[in-house]
Amino acid sequence: MKTQPSILIVGGNGFVGSTIARSFANDYKVFSTFHAHYTPIPGVTYVPMNMNDKDGAKRFAIMTHPNFVIFCAGTHDWFEAEKEEKLTQAIHAGAPGNILTATEVFKPKFIYISSDLVFSGRTGNFHEDDTTIPFLTLGKAKLSAENYIRGKSLNHVIIRSAPLLGRGTVHHPSWWDRLRRALSMEQTIGLSRRMVHSPVHISRLVAIVRKVLETDIKNTVLHVGGGTRLSEYDLGVEIATRFGFKQGLIQGGETHGVKDDFSLNTTRTLKALKLAPVSIEESIELLCS
Ligand SMILES: NC(=O)c1ccc[n+]([C@@H]2O[C@H](COP(=O)([O-])OP(=O)(O)OC[C@H]3O[C@@H](n4cnc5c(N)ncnc54)[C@H](OP(=O)(O)O)[C@@H]3O)[C@@H](O)[C@H]2O)c1
Repeated sequence: MKTQPSILIVGGNGFVGSTIARSFANDYKVFSTFHAHYTPIPGVTYVPMNMNDKDGAKRFAIMTHPNFVIFCAGTHDWFEAEKEEKLTQAIHAGAPGNILTATEVFKPKFIYISSDLVFSGRTGNFHEDDTTIPFLTLGKAKLSAENYIRGKSLNHVIIRSAPLLGRGTVHHPSWWDRLRRALSMEQTIGLSRRMVHSPVHISRLVAIVRKVLETDIKNTVLHVGGGTRLSEYDLGVEIATRFGFKQGLIQGGETHGVKDDFSLNTTRTLKALKLAPVSIEESIELLCS
């Protein structure tokens, strides 16, 4: 009987991690770590893990024998990350190092979910090889992890993602969950006009992770994003229009003409993985499914 390869998803109970776990549970032996609580997914084995406990990480590595490690732990809320600089660094940069060391004996492919916040936000349309000069705490921590992984692992892939659209979990609602809840309850919600990204539906991240699992692609950086650059506010308005919510409930702050554009250029990644670009309209339509 053919044994299934195993995936250890660190942060597998969050929005990103649970979506990845659900997508691969039939084809792989999936182990998901959790910190505080978890919402079970059929076919997924849950293991409690304190990411900063090096001995604990080693025990889980021996237990799970991972062929792949996907690190997607820690909140993506940059505003919260600013308040807890040390914790942000420990979770997004320190913990991946611990997990990498704990699992290295099994030589897994180590996949790190990074973000567009590693860039300066000055010009937008950032390519995979462009210089990274983060100014936000979350971006700095992500970049530390990227550099550490690049220096230590001979079998890694760094996936930098734009903000992702999709459904989260009870414990970890996504941005779309929070927007939908506010608008359907006719509550106002404040969204940034200043920060510009290239958001995309989370199914695009899953498609790229699948390519990384199924091909020998390694030691590279991939960009995940959509084909449209827009602010959080503009995205909220597009979604409200599509779903018939009141646009007036969305409040955008004043930008005084300043924009921080973190949008990602995905041309190289799409060409390498033979994937077509995704428009924002397609991403929004996928929220209906
Ligand atoms: N969401 C996006 O749009 C997006 C875009 C680009 C990159 N990313 C990256 O993807 C990753 C996950 O984002 P997300 O939106 O899925 O976040 P999330 O829904 O808040 O999930 C965070 C996960 O991290 C775990 N975690 C948090 N603190 C921990 C700790 N101290 N020790 C162990 N585990 C801990 C949580 O475990 P519990 O469930 O046990 O609490 C949860 O599984 C982040 O690194 C983020 O930067 C996300």
